[in-house]
Amino acid sequence: MKGLILAAGRGTRLRPLTHTRPKPVIRVAGRPILHYAVENLLEAGVKEIGVVVSPETEKDIREALAGYRVSYVLQEEPQGLAHAVAVARDFLGQSPFVLYLGDNLFQKGIGRFLEAFGEGVSAVIALVRVKNPSQFGVAVLQGDRIVRLVEKPKDPPSDLAVAGVYVFTPEVLEVIQDLKPSARGEYEITDAIQGLVDRGKRVVGVEVEGWWKDTGRPEDLLDANRLLLEELSPRVEGHVEGSQLTGRVVVERGAKVVGSTVIGPAFIGEGALVEGAYIGPFTSLGPGARVVRSEVEYSILEDHAALVDVALRLQESILGVGAAVRSRNGLPRAHRLILGDLSQVELA
Ligand code: G1P
Repeated sequence: MKGLILAAGRGTRLRPLTHTRPKPVIRVAGRPILHYAVENLLEAGVKEIGVVVSPETEKDIREALAGYRVSYVLQEEPQGLAHAVAVARDFLGQSPFVLYLGDNLFQKGIGRFLEAFGEGVSAVIALVRVKNPSQFGVAVLQGDRIVRLVEKPKDPPSDLAVAGVYVFTPEVLEVIQDLKPSARGEYEITDAIQGLVDRGKRVVGVEVEGWWKDTGRPEDLLDANRLLLEELSPRVEGHVEGSQLTGRVVVERGAKVVGSTVIGPAFIGEGALVEGAYIGPFTSLGPGARVVRSEVEYSILEDHAALVDVALRLQESILGVGAAVRSRNGLPRAHRLILGDLSQVELA
């Protein structure tokens, strides 16, 4: 069994964060989203892992996965998920494989999908009941068998969304070879799976256990961060002085928490600085982030982001790498903003 993680996407719904970096390297609960995918595969016993990258994402993805032994496959053009699989043909060979969308998070891992992949099964599809099925691939089940699959239907035939993990025999590569592009001009993995169904193959749907998150939008990132922080084991390796830590808090190596209040669950990354500050529940600070004489909760500060001398508490916020919010001294008393394309600011 091999693993194929897709990490070539542009993450347009997460701009401006994804103007400069691909979505799977954004940190939730202190780690790049992609780490959770690799860890879930390894935990399920899938050791040979390929990662599909694009010319835009390759550098950052390689950096984020530097500690792991994985192979890389380059998808030159963004032509859809099925196309990404076709590009990885040489890596996959004649092996069955798990296809894992690099922006998906599964609380309980992927073991149950692999268990369902027995004799005579051509594909196992992870499914999850959702309130907004039109935003996903949607499956129609008969017993445990999928009889129909549609991508982002206006009028969904069920509330069973396709979550981003699929187990395939190499048969799917033959179906992909015959695919035509969809209305949005992409080779859709849902069409490939429908192709298997149409050929009379056994395609099984297995419901996700525990929570599942597709990190497509900013609110999903914050929610994923919350869900992962819920499972945090407290650990203090950094320097804590004159501060109160309550609940499950991680303070990584080289981090400093001075004269502050931290209420967990919260993650303070390597080399971060928290001084005269309040860090509230469901907050993650990336490496080198700084919160000084300010308050923040239910937020993500990425690497080297800074929040300094800001009077009002920051909530439901995401600060990208190196982004800074600080108060402005002196006159005129005005907001001064330098925002990248598609940035969003809400002032109280
Ligand atoms: C993709 C798939 C869709 C699936 C979703 C899960 O959509 O095309 O079938 O439900 O991932 O995350 P995307 O998020 O790329 O629009």
